[in-house]
Amino acid sequence: MRPKVIVTLPLPDAAMQLLRERFDIVAWTEAETIPALTLADWAQDSDAILCSVGTPVEQAVIAAGKRLKVISSISVGVDHIDLPAATAAGIPVGNTPGVLVNSTADMALALMLAVTRRVVEADGFMRAGGWQSGWSAGFFLGTDLSRSTVGLIGLGPIGQAVAKRLASFGATVIAWNRSPRDVPGVECVSLDELFTRSDIVSVHAASTPETHHLVNAARLAQMKDGAILINTARGALVDEQALINELDSGRLRAGLDVFEQEPLPTDSPLLAMKNAVLVPHLGSATAATRQDMMACALNNLVAGLAGEPMPYCANPDVYV
Ligand code: DGY
Repeated sequence: MRPKVIVTLPLPDAAMQLLRERFDIVAWTEAETIPALTLADWAQDSDAILCSVGTPVEQAVIAAGKRLKVISSISVGVDHIDLPAATAAGIPVGNTPGVLVNSTADMALALMLAVTRRVVEADGFMRAGGWQSGWSAGFFLGTDLSRSTVGLIGLGPIGQAVAKRLASFGATVIAWNRSPRDVPGVECVSLDELFTRSDIVSVHAASTPETHHLVNAARLAQMKDGAILINTARGALVDEQALINELDSGRLRAGLDVFEQEPLPTDSPLLAMKNAVLVPHLGSATAATRQDMMACALNNLVAGLAGEPMPYCANPDVYV
């Protein structure tokens, strides 16, 4: 009997064709997230779940999936999956580290440059017909990365790739990591020092119960007037309401790729704020990177269903 695989999100035709060649597929094709009850219902007689961020795979789904052998996520982050429950049930969870490091680091830099040089604001100004007089010395002034101290929260592969890019811009790079790391050109500091010294704070840590709201009101209050918060990691690391308060007062600026609730609710005050540049969770969104992520997730799925160790497993304890 061919394994039955749940695909929780619309995927490109080529990927679906590959999947259908090997597996019986039950696919969620709607734009909105698959309801938890539907996923739990489908899980009852399925062997695997192929999902991504935005599809919560909760304990109830794992408990319902008596036949489940594999969960494979097309993402490096697995905070949408109840990892302890999967591990307890002996189900390996695959993820896609490595392949999205450069794309995500590029997005962090794109947001830094967009905010420091006011790119989005200036674009809106021009399109609204605002450019009526010639070159002016005080027009749309920004700040320079080369004169900035950038504080990185997290020095994993993405944090390190951001540090490398920043070095070529001439920025001073400081960082905090749970266990200090020796990275050339990066000074490891305490969180207090990072928040007080940085002109830009950029978040690159994983979302875990320990990092939830790591950037809270007290930390934001430590930031210099006019400083910038960049988040390409996960919305849960930042207390979004506290950030909104700081942005609303005009004291801080932000570049955000991720949000506490995704999609961002259409009544979010962030949408009206000129001192924030917003993009809809696009860190890994290049054609080549998404293709690599898909390949990685499929390899994890196939290996898991064959009872072999996954090339990339987020809960390797399951094999112990
Ligand atoms: C990930 O892989 O975790 C990203 O956030 C989505 O591309």
